[in-house]
Amino acid sequence: MTSPANPDLTRRLNAALAHVQDPELRRPITDLGMVADATAYDDGTAAVDVLLTIAGCPLRNTIVDDVTRAATAVDGIDSVDVTLDVMTPEQRKALKDQLTSRTVPFTQPNSLTRIIGVASGKGGVGKSSLTVNLACSMAAEGLRVGIVDADVHGFSVPSLMGITQAPTRVDEMILPPVAHGVKVISIGMFVEGNQPVVWRGPMLHRALEQFLTDVHFGDLDVLLLDLPPGTGDIAISVSQLLPESGLLVVTTPQSAAAEVAERAGAVASTTGQKVVGVVENMSWLELPDGSRMEPFGSGGGALLAGRLSEGLDADVPLLGSVPMEPRLREGGDAGTPLVVSDPESAAAQEIAAIARRLTHTPRGLAGMPLNVTPS
Ligand SMILES: Nc1ncnc2c1ncn2[C@@H]1O[C@H](COP(=O)(O)OP(=O)(O)OP(=O)(O)O)[C@@H](O)[C@H]1O
Ligand SMILES: [Mg+2]
Repeated sequence: MTSPANPDLTRRLNAALAHVQDPELRRPITDLGMVADATAYDDGTAAVDVLLTIAGCPLRNTIVDDVTRAATAVDGIDSVDVTLDVMTPEQRKALKDQLTSRTVPFTQPNSLTRIIGVASGKGGVGKSSLTVNLACSMAAEGLRVGIVDADVHGFSVPSLMGITQAPTRVDEMILPPVAHGVKVISIGMFVEGNQPVVWRGPMLHRALEQFLTDVHFGDLDVLLLDLPPGTGDIAISVSQLLPESGLLVVTTPQSAAAEVAERAGAVASTTGQKVVGVVENMSWLELPDGSRMEPFGSGGGALLAGRLSEGLDADVPLLGSVPMEPRLREGGDAGTPLVVSDPESAAAQEIAAIARRLTHTPRGLAGMPLNVTPS
């Protein structure tokens, strides 16, 4: 008598398995079609069916150990039964075709690019403004930075960065335009005028995938993704295409806004992503007499950081509070982000400090080969 399958636990099991690499191919076993089935049950047991590429795979024990470790690390799973099978010739051929096709360079095991998605629960809290300002600030510090405008329906990065030229194409490769030292790609560069992009899930996924595979960013230190508001298809696609990406959650100081933002951050627990921190935006407005007015209340950023830390059982810091700054909006309208046009302003200084906190924390070595052999 088996216990009923638990969908939420199963989702987390699969997210955990996405971090297990085939020891030889050095790619997640979930991407390689090596996980035929993975199910977790209400009683804390789990069953994982792994397909080996060849019958006598010399590294079968390593794979079993890694799968067992990843599965039992999931909160709620106590034991796992790993079954080994062998791929059919067709499955092996599909794998070979996949390995010889183009891949997302940022997910390669040796990639050192720090990938951060800028997320929020609701719209208009300043994700895009922060994305471009953080990127320009990092570029000014000498880092190699790219932005993927993942807000496919509501793209705004090209105009915020003052980019009007289209990307150059070289054969299958797309070269991203560079502005203020930052490489940028956006669906807005491919549509005529102000036409809406009326795509749904699969097309959105394909567009993002193409941005990540066909756009030649070269070696980047940081890749920022400007995400659409909320927890929709794109957030899921990003977590699948870039499982190592972290999330930066933006909120206003309003407590109701922080509650909505908490949902966006909590998605990380199902996708297995890390929330790298919270930024509070529009925290106050400095009046001509030097006093501060708080149009959206106060405390939302700290509240959200506390809730996410608790909910995700991880340290989610409040990385900074950015004041309201009319010149920030003007800079956006003019295509010159505030950190470039007015780097001395209080908002620009705070954004620069947040950028440093984001890039100066250790990136975390989870999933990185350390190239050491135990003696
Ligand atoms: N700190 C700030 N001071 C003044 N204006 C700001 C600030 N942050 C953002 N804004 C303004 O608020 C508006 C919304 O910002 P932005 O477009 O960056 O938000 P968003 O979260 O990306 O929105 P959407 O969810 O629609 O993509 C813009 O007009 C922007 O100029
Ligand atoms: Mg936006």
